Amino acid sequence: MQLLDGKLVAQAVKNELKAKTEALKAQGKKTPHLAAILIGHDGASETYVASKVKTCAEIGFQSTLIRFEADIGEQTLLQKIKELNEDENVDGILVQLPLPRHIHEEKVINTIAAHKDVDGFHPANIGKMIQGQPAYIPATPFGILLLLRHYKIETKGLHAVVIGRSNIVGRPISILLSQNTPTGNCTVTLCHSHTRNLKDLCLQADIIVAALGKPEFLTADMVKEGAIVIDVGITRVEDKTKKKGYALKGDVQFETVAPKCSYITPVPGGVGAMTIAALMQNTFLAAASGEVRG
Ligand code: GUN
Repeated sequence: MQLLDGKLVAQAVKNELKAKTEALKAQGKKTPHLAAILIGHDGASETYVASKVKTCAEIGFQSTLIRFEADIGEQTLLQKIKELNEDENVDGILVQLPLPRHIHEEKVINTIAAHKDVDGFHPANIGKMIQGQPAYIPATPFGILLLLRHYKIETKGLHAVVIGRSNIVGRPISILLSQNTPTGNCTVTLCHSHTRNLKDLCLQADIIVAALGKPEFLTADMVKEGAIVIDVGITRVEDKTKKKGYALKGDVQFETVAPKCSYITPVPGGVGAMTIAALMQNTFLAAASGEVRG
């Protein structure tokens, strides 16, 4: 069993971006600039956004954090996004999800200019991605592809089972793994809450992507010997023995599943670390050129 070390690969991606950013600046070009909007005070969202802002600083990007209280009106938020769309100094815009219930997620995503949509959530980017055209690829699926690429994992002809059909992870990764690319060419089964024979399907899988958000859902009896397991889950579970009062749990029961795998991602230090590196890659591409695919 080999660990897919997201921390290590993310660091390599960030080092490369840092060097490229220094080169951009040396040529007198503008510094890549990410604007992040955070609404409310959800603990996990606070942590993610803080990490994105910190990573920008490490790489040499400019970042702007815009905060609103959870009761912000939808129009105020949309107006702010429109301002950022027009701001030539801003290359990438992200609005951290989930949003408060009174704000329409679709409207928010659709308001972000597609060429600044470094999350890759805008329908224009999703549509282009599906057709294999240059597009911003959502950061978590993109991070998974970067991991597979780094470890030179041959995916061609493998049966991939994706558990979870979210717009952010499950749906896009199912499409990307099926495409005719070096990290694709899989036969993909996309599973969700209504899938009947999930265990049987998982047992047929050469690759399992667990992205359903249920801690330790995937157990050893669902995994075939030699499978590649990608754990996208990262749920806070109460743990009084920890200083923060919680532990981070993936969707995979790591201790029992890992011995059966050829490759597996740990939590933390797997896909989560790659997500931020992939977002940075998208932001660099937004700033550096018209080219939007990693
Ligand atoms: N919430 C969970 N994952 C993400 C992400 O990749 N981008 C944004 N904007 N919000 C998220």
